[in-house]
Amino acid sequence: MGLEVDPAFFQEPEHRPNDTVVEAGGIPLIDLSPILHLSIPDADFGETAAIPEPLAAMLADVEAACREWGFFQVVNHGVAEEVVEKAAALARGFFGLEEEEKRRVRRDEVNPLGYYESEHTKNVRDWKEVFDFAVEEPMVIPDSAEPELGGLLQLYNQWPRCPIGFREACEEYAKAVTELAFKLLELIALTLNMPTKCLNNYFKDQTSFIRLNYYPPCPSPRLALGVGRHKDSGALTILQQDDVGGLEVKQRSDGKWIRVRPFPSAFVVNVGDIVQVWSNDRYESVEHRVVANSEKGRLSIPFFFNPAHYVTVKPLEELVDEEKHPSRYKEYNWGKFFKLRKISDFKKLEVENIQVHHFSKN
Ligand code: OGA
Ligand code: NI
Repeated sequence: MGLEVDPAFFQEPEHRPNDTVVEAGGIPLIDLSPILHLSIPDADFGETAAIPEPLAAMLADVEAACREWGFFQVVNHGVAEEVVEKAAALARGFFGLEEEEKRRVRRDEVNPLGYYESEHTKNVRDWKEVFDFAVEEPMVIPDSAEPELGGLLQLYNQWPRCPIGFREACEEYAKAVTELAFKLLELIALTLNMPTKCLNNYFKDQTSFIRLNYYPPCPSPRLALGVGRHKDSGALTILQQDDVGGLEVKQRSDGKWIRVRPFPSAFVVNVGDIVQVWSNDRYESVEHRVVANSEKGRLSIPFFFNPAHYVTVKPLEELVDEEKHPSRYKEYNWGKFFKLRKISDFKKLEVENIQVHHFSKN
């Protein structure tokens, strides 16, 4: 994609991987087979003790992973391998097209869906190309981030003409991962001692989207990052990565960067800012980044599971009490937050990106 090493860019310390990476056992790996062929039983508030084994043991693992890491991998998740492989193969096909062809579906200031390559501006430069598509069409979001302006935008996907079958493979992948996302959401509700389906309604008109990330080989991997450190702002992220590796997670206990080793057929799941707020900080949205690779291009496909634009995000009432667990967040509207992030993302604003900590009461 015509990337050149620009010395000015490489002077940005944020974009240099420092040396704290350690190899370790890493984030937990959870076998979801207890729910592979079963729906998750309905439990009402406080009833989770009634949940049978082996589901109860798996729930305990999910709870610990969310609390201690904010990140885990899942296997036996029910998403067919062919579906994953097809989407990955066609994504590679797309990124392999001529630049001119890819630019036909380029995102713009109004529609954030489609293709872009990261551009070089001060402070912001990731070593990657991206294609975003919405899981539900149209994706409805506010047309302005201003609280008093009430218009809505209906966003449609921009599908490329080739490779043949790209759209179908993407849609099939989206359908399969959406199912997994709802299962994970129900598990997380249960780990918070909430009714199984209590969070599902927030996703009725979901603004979820899927991102195809291609990280080209980088001539100076010691000096650049595929993606700089960040947190995901939605509810959950479910990511598929190839075998190149490069994703790193900031360990909660000591702040060290830990590699997430690619595990065949696994998805990497992480808690986003919204689950952090819903759980009133019981679970934390954890920083992560991607280091660049000098030899191999890398493909990853995150699914960002986001609620409807009209959802008001705030700690779940059942988890808040004035005395022991006062609410730690002011409520915010998801759509306005999302729109503001998209605007600052597109314009590469030099102001600090809006973050969930801006709504923290501390
Ligand atoms: C992201 C992200 C990680 C990866 O796109 O938000 O964290 O492995 N991606 O590509
Ligand atoms: Ni991320």
